[in-house]
Amino acid sequence: MNTRKISSDDVEVSIIKMLKTGKDDPTSGQAISTELGISRNAVWKHIENLRSMGYSIDASTKKGYTLSTPLPFNATELLSELKTEIIGTAIYYHDTLTSTNDMLGELARSNATEGTILLADSQTIGRGRAGRNWHSPEGKNIYTSILLRPRIHPQMAQSITLLAAVAVAETIKEFVPSGVEVKWPNDVLINERKVAGILTEMSSDTDMVKHIVLGIGINVNSSSTEYPEELKTIATSILDKNGSSADRLKVAGVLYSRLEKWYKIYLSKGPAPHLDAWKEFFTAAGKQVKVSGPPEIEGLCMGIDDDGALLIRSSSGEVIRAVSGEMSTNN
Ligand code: BTN
Repeated sequence: MNTRKISSDDVEVSIIKMLKTGKDDPTSGQAISTELGISRNAVWKHIENLRSMGYSIDASTKKGYTLSTPLPFNATELLSELKTEIIGTAIYYHDTLTSTNDMLGELARSNATEGTILLADSQTIGRGRAGRNWHSPEGKNIYTSILLRPRIHPQMAQSITLLAAVAVAETIKEFVPSGVEVKWPNDVLINERKVAGILTEMSSDTDMVKHIVLGIGINVNSSSTEYPEELKTIATSILDKNGSSADRLKVAGVLYSRLEKWYKIYLSKGPAPHLDAWKEFFTAAGKQVKVSGPPEIEGLCMGIDDDGALLIRSSSGEVIRAVSGEMSTNN
């Protein structure tokens, strides 16, 4: 099993960055040794390490090291591409685990820092909302959890879920330009089929959030031919929509930078900017909707309020706030 914690000052990350800067020109062992202040022997050991992590690195005795494609799906590769400051302060990568949310929750309780990311190639017990499973086959999709520690009242946390939905929707839109929308509170759809889901889990004192685990699953290269029966008519992926696969690390890189962008805005300006951005992706306002209860609420969707709660006008004319549940449109 490939399980690794990595941070931006890891020697492997620095070496990969140097090899990438060199492009097709070899980078000498001496240059790496001088730049990183390590012996030539240590350089060689780190190169061996990188090879065991799936990197293909050619070595020529006279000229040095050259990196070739394909690049592997792992934390070193992700970190060598990430340009964020908060999201990705530490990255844990696992080939397989039970659930990234469960494991990040444990790390959070052991004082992991804000911005810690957990990324997995597959999950054995991927969890969805309302106790559902999250289909998590290997080699295809993104299963990730991100740790946030905003100093806010627990009641303010609902809007962080919508913040994540904006980041995910913007990420998908970068790869699939049309048909991307959000379904309250935080599903992301392409042409009315679900491409991504978010499971937000929080730990708090009475008046202060301790941590929030944002769990995000994005169907990148799953194909409609292989979904389990119950997902066949409701799920989709970037591959399904485009007819060609997408680079998962690129998708993950965009996701983390969008999350960082919106989180920084949130910390300085509050929820209004991301709630406005969320509304741009929301198409159910003005339609008849139902929110699963209890209690079940049905009526005309009036949009969301300043906290991200769904507003529904019932047949009696009363406007009801929904703070949890699943939304469906009636038309
Ligand atoms: C939903 O039901 O829409 C939420 C799905 C959330 C799935 C992601 S995959 C990564 C993280 N780990 C989990 O076990 N679940 C979330």
